[in-house]
Amino acid sequence: MITRHLHVDRNKLGGEAANLISPSEMQRSQTGSKILKGDFHKTMKILICGKGGSGKSTVAALLASAMHKRGKRIFLVDADESNIGLYRMLGLDMPVPLMDSLGGKKGFRDKTKTTGITLDGPSQLFPIDLKLDGLPDDCIASLDRIQVMSIGKIHHFGEGCACPMGKLFRMLFSSLRFEKQDLVIVDTAAGVEHFGRSLDGQCEHVLCIVDPSYESIMMAKRVETLAREAKLPVSVILNKITPEVDEALTIALEGVTIIGRLPDNRSIFLNNLKGKSLDLEMPEIESVCDAIEHAWI
Ligand SMILES: Nc1ncnc2c1ncn2[C@@H]1O[C@H](COP(=O)(O)OP(=O)(O)OP(=O)(O)O)[C@@H](O)[C@H]1O
Ligand SMILES: [Mg+2]
Repeated sequence: MITRHLHVDRNKLGGEAANLISPSEMQRSQTGSKILKGDFHKTMKILICGKGGSGKSTVAALLASAMHKRGKRIFLVDADESNIGLYRMLGLDMPVPLMDSLGGKKGFRDKTKTTGITLDGPSQLFPIDLKLDGLPDDCIASLDRIQVMSIGKIHHFGEGCACPMGKLFRMLFSSLRFEKQDLVIVDTAAGVEHFGRSLDGQCEHVLCIVDPSYESIMMAKRVETLAREAKLPVSVILNKITPEVDEALTIALEGVTIIGRLPDNRSIFLNNLKGKSLDLEMPEIESVCDAIEHAWI
């Protein structure tokens, strides 16, 4: 495990406001679509969602690793306020959640009280053109050129809902300028609440993970509808499949774009059970990487 810490500059948190349009907003307004084809330097942002336990975090980790092996620089964002398993899958320790670094929900509330933040608007909490190395060192865990951060976790009984995490995510993403990162992967909490919180508005593609269950199929259909409302392209990855399950899922999801089929893998399951890092070699993830690279250019 290689852990590299970035330069600490807590003073950079709390910069000036600016009426900047975020790059994703710009892409939307110029092209009418959130996919900007032909721009090789663009950072692609993918939101991973799906039913609880379908394998979102596992796929996020596998995808990060596989794309990294293709030479990409990865920023993996843990936007799940409950689970803490993503880091272990990569053999990393959890970094300090950004919310904690800002003084927890209370500190965050105090810092943002006067800013009049709108859903996608620029924030006064972060400086314009915030770069990842402007974030606190201990909020980023790194595995070579994969950088991982957590938005925030629920720590205490009765501490309230996770809405501030959604707000922080939007503020961060409307300020961040990805210069060195090629691919941003956002691992979300189970369900569709992130659509309600407009986390998807900061991404260009939705990747829905479907495991062999009716609930998961229904979730994929809901995700498709919600993503369509957000004018975002959606792809599906079938996870934990056997040949029999593959056929049933493919029929149930007719009309949906399936870009990957990941087998039910005993070693993934057992490593997770034992709290070990994943065996990150899964050839079947390559078709997902191909599809992403294809959409990219
Ligand atoms: N391809 C696979 N083969 C076997 N087991 C898998 C596979 N993918 C995921 N799992 C197992 O499924 C369980 C849930 O995986 P994971 O934590 O990635 O799901 P999740 O969707 O992120 O869950 P949550 O909604 O709780 O965040 C874990 O035990 C994991 O090891
Ligand atoms: Mg998860």
